[in-house]
Amino acid sequence: MTKFHLGWFMNFIPPEWDTDDSSPDVAAWANGDFYVDMARSMERAGFDLIMIEDTVMVADAYGGTMEGSLKHCQFAPKHDPLPLAVKLAAKTSRLGVVATLSTSFYPPYLLARACSTVDSIAGGRFGWNIVSSAEDRAAQNFGMDALPAHDERYNVAQEYFDVVNQLWDSWERDAVVMDRETHTYADFAKVHTIDFEGKYFKSRGPLNTIPSPQHRPAFLQAGASPKGRQFAAGAADAIVASMNGLAAMKEYRDDVRARAAAAGRDPDDIKLLFTAGPVIAPTKAEAEAKLERILGHPSYVEKQLVGIASNTEIDFSRFDLDEPLPRELTTNGEQSSLQRFMEGDDSGTAYTLRELTMLRARRGLDLVGTPQEVARKMADVMEEVGGDGFLITKPGWNLSRSYITDICDGLIPELQRLGVVRTQYGKSTLRETLREF
Ligand SMILES: Cc1cc2nc3c(=O)[nH]c(=O)nc-3n(C[C@H](O)[C@H](O)[C@H](O)COP(=O)(O)O)c2cc1C
Repeated sequence: MTKFHLGWFMNFIPPEWDTDDSSPDVAAWANGDFYVDMARSMERAGFDLIMIEDTVMVADAYGGTMEGSLKHCQFAPKHDPLPLAVKLAAKTSRLGVVATLSTSFYPPYLLARACSTVDSIAGGRFGWNIVSSAEDRAAQNFGMDALPAHDERYNVAQEYFDVVNQLWDSWERDAVVMDRETHTYADFAKVHTIDFEGKYFKSRGPLNTIPSPQHRPAFLQAGASPKGRQFAAGAADAIVASMNGLAAMKEYRDDVRARAAAAGRDPDDIKLLFTAGPVIAPTKAEAEAKLERILGHPSYVEKQLVGIASNTEIDFSRFDLDEPLPRELTTNGEQSSLQRFMEGDDSGTAYTLRELTMLRARRGLDLVGTPQEVARKMADVMEEVGGDGFLITKPGWNLSRSYITDICDGLIPELQRLGVVRTQYGKSTLRETLREF
């Protein structure tokens, strides 16, 4: 059976706070301790990585007001992933920790320096989720009126990727000599300026950080458009993807692997991690009831629409919840996110807006049942798709301790019994962990 990798996609936001599942101490989430507990549970379960999502604005695309964003904790509050990554790395010893940082907003030198510093703190377990961002509201916080057009953002990201890699290479691996005889800390002949002058960026270099254990952080990416796939195939150690169903997963994986091979890379060096939102309980009926409780939360539908409205900059409050959604919508935001949302699943049905928000929670795979049922289904999906793993995302998104326990202490042991996921860590850096099998 195909052995596969596991990650978890989350962000630095309030956990569930208004349901029966929320415990009073989650009010103190902003100190990061809730997520430290989560990371430790994940490490006990043998996850490859925890991936912290990010965006940098308070959204108002839904109805032209910030009300929905603030009421439902969608986009705000959302705290900075990098300091949380440092805390999680410090409180774990094997788990990979990935932070999202945008090529549209971080100056390349600052990003290269921050990633190098955090990778050293994390002992080589740090990853960078490379995004170019999709929201003009975010651009307006950084002196721009709007983001560049979708494909142009990838042109910028490609050059950005080149410059930061040159910065990480600006110190040769053996530049630190610490020679007590000559009282020399670093050999100046092994540290080089990069004198980068591109279309969008200019940087002299070198970095003023020593090479980190991985030298470059592990790279995660989520490009799903043709331009995005091309970038990811050339750059990523792991690609995270949300796909509606098996056929789309397989097509995506095959396409990215072919692009990687064409770019001269070994396709096995890239792990495809597909988002999945398992819901488990001792019986299938109880698991279904659990999912229904999440979908039946009074905020569920509007919260989803605030989210998708902001990623796509389409005001979904304009549409009737119980009418089929018009198919001709377009966006300069996340194109593939819009397309996937509008499709609902791979059945070709014209769903209403309300139905589409519900289908989103099932993510096309329907992983609802007992730990045994869901584990078996995940193993079967991987067998069919060919690899390389899943990225857990909780339906309804905000986390609860009970959901984390369901996954780490219910589902994962079942996957381990099937022999399809790791039971222990064999490598020390995140890149090596991803390439272990
Ligand atoms: C699992 C996953 C995680 C993502 N995380 C982020 C994120 O943290 N921040 C962000 O701005 N975009 C994020 N994105 C959006 C991607 O960067 C990208 O815009 C999206 O997948 C659409 O691809 P495309 O731009 O090639 O159309 C994520 C996408 C996926 C599927």
